[in-house]
Amino acid sequence: MDKTVELPLRAQEDVVSVRQTVRSHAVAIGLSLVDQTKLVTAASELARNTVIHGGGGTAKLEVIQEANRRGIRLTFEDHGPGIRDVEQALKDGYSTGNGLGLGLGGARRLTNEFAIESKPGAGTRVVITQWTKKS
Ligand SMILES: Nc1ncnc2c1ncn2[C@@H]1O[C@H](COP(=O)(O)OP(=O)(O)OP(=O)(O)O)[C@@H](O)[C@H]1O
Ligand SMILES: [Mg+2]
Repeated sequence: MDKTVELPLRAQEDVVSVRQTVRSHAVAIGLSLVDQTKLVTAASELARNTVIHGGGGTAKLEVIQEANRRGIRLTFEDHGPGIRDVEQALKDGYSTGNGLGLGLGGARRLTNEFAIESKPGAGTRVVITQWTKKS
């Protein structure tokens, strides 16, 4: 029963839709309330980055299934300017804009799996996954 949803991320209101879609699927697969909130918070930060820094892009939501657990995998992708130094961008307090510089590092801490790929001039892709407890 795998499932994929694709969502556009062009403006602030799209960030709200992503939050809502992530929350409803997180509830549906049985993530704990704490893990739901962590995932929604991380998704919100990454969606905001896609809009603000990436110039817009997409969010993909996949419901994934293993033998004894289910998960939600989210992929945020844009074809914006990319990030020259990803390690630096992940550090708390680093921002090239007006932000606090907490979004990227926060998203990594809040999720079970975090991967980022970015190429200057080509774009950025961030993938996060949150799993239910094993049954
Ligand atoms: N999708 C992206 N495309 C290009 N640069 C990005 C992208 N996402 C993050 N960055 C870069 O990484 C930096 C750190 O991101 P992070 O989300 O941690 O902080 P921020 O967005 O600047 O502030 P905030 O705390 O409000 O999220 C950004 O300032 C930006 O330079
Ligand atoms: Mg941010």
